[in-house]
Amino acid sequence: MLYGLMTEEINHSYDGGLYAELIRNRIFKDDPATPEGWSLVQANAGSKAAIKLMAPTQDNVPYDERRHAINEALTTCLRLTVEEASGRVGVANEGYWGIPVKPATTYQASFYLKGSGSVPPPPPRRGQPAPPAQPVIADNTAGPMTVTIESTDGKTVYASGTINLEKSIFWKKYSLTLTTGATVKPTTDARFVISTDRMGLYYFNLVSLFPPTYHDRPNGNRPDLMTMMVDMKPKFLRFPGGNYLEGPLITDAFPWKTTLGPLESRPGHRGSWGYRASDGMGLLEFLQWCEDIGAEPLLGVYAGYSLGGDHIDAGPLLQPHVEDALHEIEYVMGDATTYWGAKRVADGHPAPFKLRYVEIGNEDWFDRTNSYDGRFNQFRTAIEKKYPQLHCISTIADKQFPAMKVTSGKPPELLDEHYYRSAWDMWQNAAQYDTYDRNGPKIFVGEWATREGTPTTNLNAALGDAAWMLGMERNSDLIVMSCYAPLFVNVNQATATTKRAWQWDSDLIGYDALTSYGSPSYYVQKMFSDYLGDEIVPVTGANIPTHTRPLTRRDSVEGTTQKPTPALFYAATKNQQTGTVYLKIVNPTGNKLPIDINLQGMTKVAPSATMVVLKSAKPEDTNTISNPRNIVPITTTLKRLAPRFSRTLDPYSVTVLQLQNKK
Ligand code: AHR
Repeated sequence: MLYGLMTEEINHSYDGGLYAELIRNRIFKDDPATPEGWSLVQANAGSKAAIKLMAPTQDNVPYDERRHAINEALTTCLRLTVEEASGRVGVANEGYWGIPVKPATTYQASFYLKGSGSVPPPPPRRGQPAPPAQPVIADNTAGPMTVTIESTDGKTVYASGTINLEKSIFWKKYSLTLTTGATVKPTTDARFVISTDRMGLYYFNLVSLFPPTYHDRPNGNRPDLMTMMVDMKPKFLRFPGGNYLEGPLITDAFPWKTTLGPLESRPGHRGSWGYRASDGMGLLEFLQWCEDIGAEPLLGVYAGYSLGGDHIDAGPLLQPHVEDALHEIEYVMGDATTYWGAKRVADGHPAPFKLRYVEIGNEDWFDRTNSYDGRFNQFRTAIEKKYPQLHCISTIADKQFPAMKVTSGKPPELLDEHYYRSAWDMWQNAAQYDTYDRNGPKIFVGEWATREGTPTTNLNAALGDAAWMLGMERNSDLIVMSCYAPLFVNVNQATATTKRAWQWDSDLIGYDALTSYGSPSYYVQKMFSDYLGDEIVPVTGANIPTHTRPLTRRDSVEGTTQKPTPALFYAATKNQQTGTVYLKIVNPTGNKLPIDINLQGMTKVAPSATMVVLKSAKPEDTNTISNPRNIVPITTTLKRLAPRFSRTLDPYSVTVLQLQNKK
C-alpha cells in the first residue's frame, strides 16, 4: 500500500481537468452576477439580441425572471432574447480555456431548452408603481437550432448538428452528437455555440458537451489523465481532500449526497479553492475512478472543522455529521439490503466497493481550539462499532503536533503527516523516519511534495522527492501509505475573461484542454512504484559524500550555521517471491559520483540488470505543456554484472537498478 494518490478539486483538477465535461458553468451558478464563460453570438449588426442570467438569488428580479427552475438543483438559467434576427444569433461557451478540437472525434452534446415570447407584465398593484414597459417579442422560437463546435472567431466550423426546438412552455432536454472531420488540426481555440435565426426568448440550462471518455464511461474522465494514473500503479486514492473535504464554511463541506444520481439533481457547491464545483465528479465517480485505476478508496469524511476556523464541538451537535459519515460509508460498502447500499445499486454499481481506510477530517491541527480529540473519538467510536473492520486515520500526527494529538481512548491506529518542503528540506529530513518509535501508531504520509517549479515541479523537486521516498521505503514497516499532493494542475494562464487556472505550485501532472504531461516528479513516482519489492533490504553506506545548504537570509538573521547533509541517498527492497532486488540511488549534486556497490546478500546476481535513470543537466530543468518529454526516465541494460561492481552516477540523477538472481 506504500504508494497511492491524493486528489481534490484544486487547480481545476476535475472541472477543467480530469472530469471530461467541456462546458464551463453548465448550470449557470458559477457567478451569481454574470453568466461566466458564456457570451452572445450575433453574426450581423442588424440583429437585436441580448443574453441574461436568470438567477433567482438576485435581488429585485421580477417574478417572470425567477420562475424558470427545472428542479431544486437547476434553478438558474441563461436567457437569449432575440428582438430582431438578421442571420445567426446564439449563445457561446468558451469551455475551460478553450474547447479541445481533435480530428475524427465524436462529442455528445445535450441541453435543456425552451422558447417563448415575452410575457406582458402584470397590471400594477394598487399603490405600487407600474412595472417598466417591456418590448413585445413574438414567440417565433420553434424550429431548427444549430449546434456547433467552431473557432472562437466563428469563421471555422469543426463540427455541426441541429435539433428541432418544439413549441412548448416547458423545458425539454435535447441531445445530439457532433463529429469533427478527419483532417481537422487539433486546437483549443474553439467554442461551443447554440444558435437560431428566429426571434423570441430562448432559455438554456444544463448545457453539456462530452468528448470520448476513459472506457467510454458516461459522465466520465479524460483518457490521457486516466492512463497516466494507471501507469503509476497506485494502490489507493485519497479523496475528496484536502481542503476540498472541509470547505471554507461548515455549510461548504463536500456534499456527497447531492453529488449522486443524474446531473439534473446536482446543484454543485462552493469549492475551497476560489471556484465553484459542478459535482460532476461525485462520490460514485470517485469510486469508479478508483476502480478504473485499480486503486482502493481511502475515504476522507467531514469531521466538523472548516477552513474558515469554525468547528462543531463533539457531542449532540456533531452527531448528525457522524451519522452522515456512516451513511457515506454505507453507500461505499453496504450491500443492497442497506438503505445507502441500495442507493448505490440503483445508481448502477451493484457490488460494494472495498473500503479499509477512513480518514476523520483533514489537517485538524489548524483547529486551534483543540477540539479534535473529542471529534475524532466520536467518529471513531461510531465507525468502529458499525464497521469493526475499518481503520480510522487521525489527521493530527503525534510528532508534528504533540500538543494537539488525540489522547483519549486507545491511540489512533494511523496518523496522517503532511510535508510541503524545499529540496534542501527533503534532503535534510530524508532520514527522519529512521528514528521514529516502532511501538507507536503507523504513519500515513497523506500529503507531501517538494515545492520547486511552477506550475509543475522541476528536476530539483524530483531529486528532493526521490530522497524523501527512499526514507519512506527504507522505513516502510512504519510508513504504511503515502501520497503526493497536489496531483493535477490545469496550466492555463489568465485570459481577458478568466482567472489563472491554478492556485497551488508545484504540481505533479499538468494539462490544458488538449494535452497533458508529467513533471519530473511524476516520473520519479512512476519509477518508484514500478520497481518496488515487498521486503526492506538492509543497505549500509560508507564514505558517503556530503554537501551543505547555502546560507539563507533567515540563517543570517537567526545566526544559524548549516550542517553538512548526505549528498547521496539509497534504499533497496526485494520481491520475496522472485528474489528481485530494487536498488534506488539519488545523486542530488552537480558532480559525477563514482560508487562501489557490494551485493553482499545476493551472491548469485544475474549478469544483466535493468537500469532506469532520470536526469538532466540543470536542477531547474523541467517539462512543460510545449516540451512535455524534456526529462523522462531512460531504461538501459547493464551487462556483465558481478556481486561487486562500480558505477558512476550522473549529476542530478535518480537511478533504479533491478537486480535479478541467476536462473
Ligand atoms: O494540497 C494542497 C492543500 O494542502 C490541501 O488541500 C490541504 O490539505 C493542504 O494544506
